Amino acid sequence: MPFRQRHLLGIEHLAPAEIITILDLADRYVDLNRRMVKQSDALAGLTQINMFFENSTRTQASFELAGKRLGADVMNMAVAQSSVKKGETLIDTALTLNAMHPDLLVVRHGASGAVNLLASKVNCAVLNAGDGRHEHPTQALLDALTIRRAKGRIQRLTVAICGDIAHSRVARSNLILLGKMENRIRLIAPPTLMPAGVQDFGCELYDDMRTGLQGADVVMMLRLQKERMDGGFIPSEREYYHRYGLDAEKLSHAKPDAIVMHPGPMNRGVEIDGELADDINRSVIQEQVEMGVAVRMACMDLLARNLRAERGRQIVGDTYA
Ligand code: NCD
Repeated sequence: MPFRQRHLLGIEHLAPAEIITILDLADRYVDLNRRMVKQSDALAGLTQINMFFENSTRTQASFELAGKRLGADVMNMAVAQSSVKKGETLIDTALTLNAMHPDLLVVRHGASGAVNLLASKVNCAVLNAGDGRHEHPTQALLDALTIRRAKGRIQRLTVAICGDIAHSRVARSNLILLGKMENRIRLIAPPTLMPAGVQDFGCELYDDMRTGLQGADVVMMLRLQKERMDGGFIPSEREYYHRYGLDAEKLSHAKPDAIVMHPGPMNRGVEIDGELADDINRSVIQEQVEMGVAVRMACMDLLARNLRAERGRQIVGDTYA
């Protein structure tokens, strides 16, 4: 079972075999999470600190639940009330926490690259829970697990990623993961929300939903990330919904068994029709949330195994020194 990472900073660092290792272990955690007693000791005795410098509902909750179900001591740092608000730098905060000997640090930050910088300063395993527009690796992994369970495979599928691609770390991590697993990727967005140079990732670009969705197995919708927009990127939300909002009619251009995904939080009536989002025959949005807990359990379990092995080697080294 290959998994050689010290941190989980982005999909870009993972080999396809490592992605499969995570998904296989996550499948086993899905079973555990459906039992009455959801307890394992994979992280027993370890300390997990969650630092969310940006708002989060499902990601933070699922990292917390994942750690608790694996027996870790979990602490959520209340960033809003912390010394960050008194002007402390990210690095000083990290070094302060590092001195308390955490084993796993889960970080979400508004700046792209902030989590990588932090990982270079601490002794524990760092998991990126989303950094700016850069990466959101556990979201891409939970999306991959959801797709694999619905379609029976995570290769040779046509996946359409639609909406605000320019501001989305979810799109970026998914693009890298789905590309590594040899899928056909279509990006559908208004030209103002399509990032420059994205065709280098080997995907097809569309600005029309009906053409872009032709023959798609998976339709992945994205939220309009208004908090990352400076200026007007769309004429109006009404206009945007008309052209790019997913409804039953636009979905009818995809394969008849295409699944509908959204990372949440959703803006009903802006990027997706509310009724379609709730249609259990097409939408796997609730499954994505369920898979999120299992994937985060798998990632932390695998990182903790490597951490234990590394510390074991250090202890053996010290003993014979
Ligand atoms: C995403 C994020 O934070 O990048 N949400 C999530 O993690 N569930 C997408 C978004 O905020 O639109």
